[in-house]
Amino acid sequence: SHARITLDRDFTIADVPARLFGSFVEHMGRCVYTGIYEPGHPEADDQGYRKDVMALAKELGATVVRYPGGNFVSGYNWEDGVGPRQDRPVRIDGAWHTIETNAFGLHEFVEWARRADMEVMEAINLGTRGVDEARALVEYANHPSGTYWSDLRRKNAAAMGTSEEPFGIKLWCLGNELDGPWQIGHKTAEEYGRLAQETAKAMKLVDPAIELVAVGSSNRRMPTFGSWEHTVLTHAYEEVDYISMHAYYQEHDGDAASFLAEAVDMDGFIEGVIATVDAVKAAGKHSKQIDISFDEWNVWYQEGLDTEDQPDQVAKGWNTHPRLIEDKYSVTDAVVVGTLMHSLLRHGDRVRIANQAQLVNVIAPIRSEEGGPAWRQTIFWPFARIAELATGEIMRLAVQADQVHTERYGDVDVVDAASTYDAEAGTVSLFVANRGLEEPAEVSLDLRGLAAKSILRAEVLRIPEGGDRHAANDLQTPEAVGLVPLDGIRLEESTEGAGVHLSLPAL
Ligand code: AHR
Repeated sequence: SHARITLDRDFTIADVPARLFGSFVEHMGRCVYTGIYEPGHPEADDQGYRKDVMALAKELGATVVRYPGGNFVSGYNWEDGVGPRQDRPVRIDGAWHTIETNAFGLHEFVEWARRADMEVMEAINLGTRGVDEARALVEYANHPSGTYWSDLRRKNAAAMGTSEEPFGIKLWCLGNELDGPWQIGHKTAEEYGRLAQETAKAMKLVDPAIELVAVGSSNRRMPTFGSWEHTVLTHAYEEVDYISMHAYYQEHDGDAASFLAEAVDMDGFIEGVIATVDAVKAAGKHSKQIDISFDEWNVWYQEGLDTEDQPDQVAKGWNTHPRLIEDKYSVTDAVVVGTLMHSLLRHGDRVRIANQAQLVNVIAPIRSEEGGPAWRQTIFWPFARIAELATGEIMRLAVQADQVHTERYGDVDVVDAASTYDAEAGTVSLFVANRGLEEPAEVSLDLRGLAAKSILRAEVLRIPEGGDRHAANDLQTPEAVGLVPLDGIRLEESTEGAGVHLSLPAL
């Protein structure tokens, strides 16, 4: 198949938002316990953080990490996770049918993020709690000293041997998926809109520098999608800064063609939310702009998998860190993750924050075993490379491509692409996926207004010898799938600027 991609120096979308390469750590399954935190593990540091996992998280290039949930946060008391560990209560986590020891809490996470050099994005509980607990938490985290909550933070930090200075958390989520009937404290849009507005107001009275994310729809198929965003923002437009989006994708019944086209769905979902947000802006005569925080996205096999780690199976008992949704990702899943990141980049003027869910073990690019090693899943690679190489400005691409037919999305371009141009470094990055299952994609890239002189690096996902698109990494073969140099790429002269030809293998 063939495709022609044109980019022009002057046609840009936005600067690359640093927060687009976010991740998510929830108290769920083994993301925290035996994921980022495992005292007693041979790789544990002085605070019990796994150094092997932290090294992989840094290599992944995650910039901002959402915490502590997820569904978990809607029943969580943040106070349970601070203070002397021996005094912290053991609680039931209803969301994941788990016993929460509270051995890990806010201080432990803030210190982990500091060591990992990542920004904290803190979610508050608006399921079972409200305005008062939220404003207390902002005071605890961000107020310098001399008040009840800030002095308690200083005391607890001193006891832990970490900095007493304010955590300085800028980014806050006003709850999680409260449109969903499964959520503890599920609300109507009216109820949530008013609560979000009043909570936001009270939090900003404590620290006016914070940025707030209102809860949007849990997915595009929610019956309230659209009206939820409209009602919530009609109440809280002036008090919040972002609205959230969540989306998970999977291959259904072996329909790989549709699965490889899920970025079409993500594009449409984002554009639908932008339209709704801007309609509220116009009707309310607001001048400020609300942007999007796509704070949960990934491939997640929610249907059709009958493995031991599904939430309903684990619900048979109460455990402290059960295996939950430890999806093992294939090469196909990695290609889809790449295309989802292309979609986020293509909308980088309005999607200013995005978090892949989650970081370790739970639908994650990084896996770790209790007492054992840590490794990279296939989906680690597109994330790590895009986070590393998408710098400068996002380019507006013109793509003319052969079409592939899909059951779900009709005819779609055989290639999916995004690109950035970094004027300071003098480099262009092109990210491109071949959706074709049968043949290579021959791609010509026209670089207008750019005098490209050389190809610095070209890589492609490797399918291991004897394997196919289902190949994956696991405990036994942690490096089966990785990146290898892309053969078949060359610089070409053209009349209007430089050109590149590349041949992308089929899956
Ligand atoms: O990331 C797993 C779960 O997916 C989160 O807890 C929830 O917010 C979403 O439904």
